[in-house]
Amino acid sequence: MNAHTKIETIAFSRNPTSKPVDAAARAELLKDPGFGRVFTDHMITIRWTKDRGWHDARARAREPISLDPAAAVLHYGQEIFEGLKAYTRSDGSIALFRPEQNARRFRASAARMAMPEMPEAMFLQAVEELVKIDRAWIPGGEGSLYLRPFMFATEAFLGVRPSHECLFVLIASSVGSYFKSGAKAVTVWLSDRYTRAAEGGTGAAKCGGNYAASLLAQAEAIDHGCDQVIFLDAAEHRWVEELGGMNVFFVFDDGSMITPPLGTILPGITRDSIITLARSEGRTVREERYSIEQWRADAATGKLREVFACGTAAVVSAIGTIKSANGDIMIGDGTGGPITAGLKARLVGIQRGDVADTEGWVRKIG
Ligand SMILES: Cc1ncc(COP(=O)(O)O)c(C=O)c1O
Repeated sequence: MNAHTKIETIAFSRNPTSKPVDAAARAELLKDPGFGRVFTDHMITIRWTKDRGWHDARARAREPISLDPAAAVLHYGQEIFEGLKAYTRSDGSIALFRPEQNARRFRASAARMAMPEMPEAMFLQAVEELVKIDRAWIPGGEGSLYLRPFMFATEAFLGVRPSHECLFVLIASSVGSYFKSGAKAVTVWLSDRYTRAAEGGTGAAKCGGNYAASLLAQAEAIDHGCDQVIFLDAAEHRWVEELGGMNVFFVFDDGSMITPPLGTILPGITRDSIITLARSEGRTVREERYSIEQWRADAATGKLREVFACGTAAVVSAIGTIKSANGDIMIGDGTGGPITAGLKARLVGIQRGDVADTEGWVRKIG
């Protein structure tokens, strides 16, 4: 097959692990998995080369990957990833939430990072394949199986140009709550020194480099007793952009909402879902710039009633307090509010099958 042959799906070779974690040990791990520490038995790998295109798709035991020390990813950081969850629904079935949106965003990230764009059907095939093999790893209760597709440049070549070889890998992690504090409102640190993304940069792509660049600000947030960092724009340092791993919404006294516009932020799938849900309740949602000065002023007058962050990992989390070098801002009484709680309940209800899926967002896995 040559690189010009358009393939949309791929056949997987299947070699299940000979050493699965036994049921009792798995049950112990699933009791309180936390976030991102408990991994399943299997993984998916698919290779891409400039000459052959996509090939060598495997469902296999999860194991370390060997790389040439000259692999481009280790030098120039050519890497992208995604994050989505498989849920057990109230009727016992398993479902994904808008996975085709992750497939689409994965392609967009690949395009920005000069990497091959995996066909969306192939991405979905990989996800379904792994969820089916590792379905026993989906925790009960509020837990879920967090799926982490990623792709990186494997070509052994030190010249600076797009790699001619890439490896796609999909792993899965059994997860509970993202924040240690559980459901209560989170505290965020406003970074006035570091920015996350600039016009023309990679802010809208889900590439590892964005997160590497955010870690110092995240460490600063932790040092100040905060759960996450919130970034301002790179040009004027006044427009609120997003958190290190979540989008942000502001809720006002008239019931309307503002969320920062797309461009330099990650186009969150939860963000898009919340906009749709809020508008379907008759709320006005503006995708509009909102400054930190306005945030302070509106919090002081009480015009700003609620602020929340949203993303796949933490779903919807009320932001109670924002801390900064110029003083703290408390929102309401610092514990979140009813609109945040209502939108979260609707979203989780749709994911779990307790609220009607009128938008066709849920994809059941047989
Ligand atoms: C920087 C950033 N913003 C926003 C989000 C939320 O995106 P989504 O709702 O698609 O998970 C994420 C998480 O993936 C993120 O890493």
